[in-house]
Parts: sequence; C-alpha cells; structure tokens
Amino acid sequence: MVTEVRQEAAKAGVQPVPGPTGMHLAMLLFTSAVSVGTFALDNGLMRTPPMGWLAWERFRCDIDYRLSEDGWRELGYVYVNIDDCWASMDRDEKGRLQPDPKRFPGGIPKLARYMHDRGLKLGIYGDMGTHTCGGYPGTPLDKIKIDAQTFADWEVDMLKFDGCYSNATEQEQGYPLMSNALNATGRPIGYSCSWPAYQGGLPPKVNYTQLGKICNLWRNYGDIQDSWDSVLDIINWFFENQDTLIPAAGPGRWNDPDMLIIGDFGLSMDQSRAQMAIWAIMAAPLFMSNDLRTISSGARSILQNKMAISINQDPLGIQGRRIIKEKSGIDVYWRPLSKDDSALVFFSRRNDMPYRYQTSLKKLNYTTGSYKIFDVFTEKTMTLKDSTDFVVSVNPTGVVMWYVSAPAKLSLRQLYKGGKLQGFAYDDDENSIPPVFL
Ligand code: GLA
Repeated sequence: MVTEVRQEAAKAGVQPVPGPTGMHLAMLLFTSAVSVGTFALDNGLMRTPPMGWLAWERFRCDIDYRLSEDGWRELGYVYVNIDDCWASMDRDEKGRLQPDPKRFPGGIPKLARYMHDRGLKLGIYGDMGTHTCGGYPGTPLDKIKIDAQTFADWEVDMLKFDGCYSNATEQEQGYPLMSNALNATGRPIGYSCSWPAYQGGLPPKVNYTQLGKICNLWRNYGDIQDSWDSVLDIINWFFENQDTLIPAAGPGRWNDPDMLIIGDFGLSMDQSRAQMAIWAIMAAPLFMSNDLRTISSGARSILQNKMAISINQDPLGIQGRRIIKEKSGIDVYWRPLSKDDSALVFFSRRNDMPYRYQTSLKKLNYTTGSYKIFDVFTEKTMTLKDSTDFVVSVNPTGVVMWYVSAPAKLSLRQLYKGGKLQGFAYDDDENSIPPVFL
C-alpha cells in the first residue's frame, strides 16, 4: 500500500516528505466519473453543494497520496482540496506564490493535470491576510490579483480563502476583490469564503445577500474537530440561527458547516449517520476529511449512501430547517425537495437508550394524503397516511432519516369496453421516490 501510494504521489509530482509539523502531507485521489457543472451567478459553479475531500481536519499540514478505485467520483465527490501549508515561505522572483518544492517537485500544474486526467478537480487554499492560519504567506490586498491569476494559470478549480491575520476592514475589501479577480481570469474557480466565520457569522456584521453574490460557499462558524461535541455544537449553532441562514443558501451559494469527519476517530456509527443526515438536510458542502485508504466499510457506506447524497444534492437547493425541538431530546428536521418530495430527520440528543418517538405526518405539517416513505439508512419502504400515528425508534445521538415522496396523484382515465365509452376511473400514479435508489 505504501509503495502504491508513493508511486501515485510520484506520478502527480507530489513528494510525501515530512512537513513543518513533522507529519506527512497527504493528498487524496479518487478515480471514477466526473460531473459537469452548469453555470449560474458569478461563475456558474456549484449549482448543488460541492462534494469532495479536504485535507485539513484529518491531515492538518500533512498531505499523503492515494488513488482510490472505490467509486467516490461517480457519487459526486470530485474535488480534491489541499488545505494550508502547501506554500513555500517565499514568493518567486515575479512575486508569485510557489509551492514547497520538496513536497510538490512537479509544481501545482502537474498535480492539477493529474486530477483532471482522472475526472477530478483540484482545490487550493489561500488567506486574505499577511499570513495563512498556519503561518505561511498570505494574500494581502495588493497581492489579490496576482494570486488569482496564478491559481488560474495553474488550472486550479476551487479556492478556499481563509481570513487569519486580516482585520474586518481588510476583509470587506479583500473578499469581493478576490471574487472579481477570480472572475477576471476567465477560469471558473469555485470560491469558498471564510469571511463570515471571522465576523461571528451573523448580521449586521455579516451580509449574506452580498456573500451570495460574490462567493459560492462560505464558512459561517468555527472549525470542526474530530468529536461528537464539535459536531453537536455546529448543529446547535446552525439551527439556532436557521432563520438567518436558510435564505442565504441556494444554487451556487451555500452555508458551509465544515468538513465531514465520518471515517475518523471521534464518531460512532450512529453519530456518523447523524452527521451525514443533518449535512444533507442543511444542503451543506460534503467535503470529507478522512483517510480513504483505511476507512471502515461502515463509514464508507454512510458516505456513499445514495439517498442521503441525492437529498443533499436536490436541485431546488433549499436548505432545510428544524421544525420541532422536543423536551424529550428529540429534534425533527425537514427539507423540501423537488417534485413536492421532502426529507425528514428524527434526531436524538439523548444519552440513555433508543427512544420511541410517536407522531404523525399531519403533526409534522404534511397535508392530507398517502405518502410513500423510504428509510435512508435501513432502505425499508412503507406507505403512511398523513393521519396515521407512527413510532420511530431513534438511537442515542443517532438519527432516523426518511425520504418522503409526494402522495400519489390520482389521474382520471376513460374506461372503454367493446369500443364504447363506459365511464371514468381513477388510477394511482407511482409515488415519486427516484427508482434509481430502490
Ligand atoms: C483555519 C480554517 C481551517 C484550516 C486552517 C488551516 O483554522 O478554518 O479550516 O483551513 O485554518 O490553517
């Protein structure tokens, strides 16, 4: 495995040498199919939340190299994003950023080509300040144009633009300037802004209307860490502020609650399903930060759950909301989907034992009708009338997630017998659960 990884690294021009933290820089590759984006807003990118892999949470300053044949790309995980610590401490003689030559002997263009040849996209990291959060060269105001051009020349597909070592006034200028500079290069580069996270994530300091015009996604809140406490803290903040955040999101502009840590060390299987379910409800970018070489089959199947992914990627792009927060510790989340379908998540904050939660679709504001339910993680289906009481058993710190298809519509059909019209009859149309998932 190590040899294989090193060979792949060499092919892409990456040298897995120890970084400043003494660890290895690890970069991940997926093989599999590419998805072609449509164009809207500023650069037309990211009409559904971007999906991929991001080095930071799991590997920090390390990058390792991995070519995976595990079907990630077909599912939409196409971005492979380097985070902090990639740059050399000095700019080149023309004032351009340059990668650490020990780690990237072939330069970034070689790496980008390697990704593109495999139908993947390459993301890079920069910082709107004097230094990156890790202390590497930043992109202060007077360097924005040249750095945007450098990234475009390297054929980079996405930029995460962090905010360490800059103040509010500089950020107010710098984030829109970088947006314009990226547009001016003519290369579509997805633009992730950490700006709101540095300003507390809420109005009046944060202007979400403006962000939606200049960025494709933005970090609103603090860094995720490898623990359930961290995931829960993020969930709490996002849903306490849902009335502010939901209208900010839409095709091409997404709130980013940070990376998926499924497959790392901190989450149980139930908690992993919970992160996947709530990130799907939130229409959140799905950037895994994990080690795909050693990931367990349980974690992999959660990350590769097609129904959860299709809910996350719903083309309407409406961010879901918490509709109920029970004293018992059960929350209910709901997201409207295209074709009048929807997703429901029953989430338990309890720490004792599975909780039997009783409700009905009517109590959850569903209109009269008979609904087809697809359980995202058990793959069981059933039909439910709005008025029928049901019980879901929700594990501690776990979820039950449902895809709810719109009620079958009745269609009027003429009845003929012996060539003569005998009358009319109603036919049941199929419920609209996408057949691909059944
Ligand atoms: C900040 C960001 C993280 C990561 C580090 C890198 O903390 O929020 O996601 O990029 O910087 O130094």
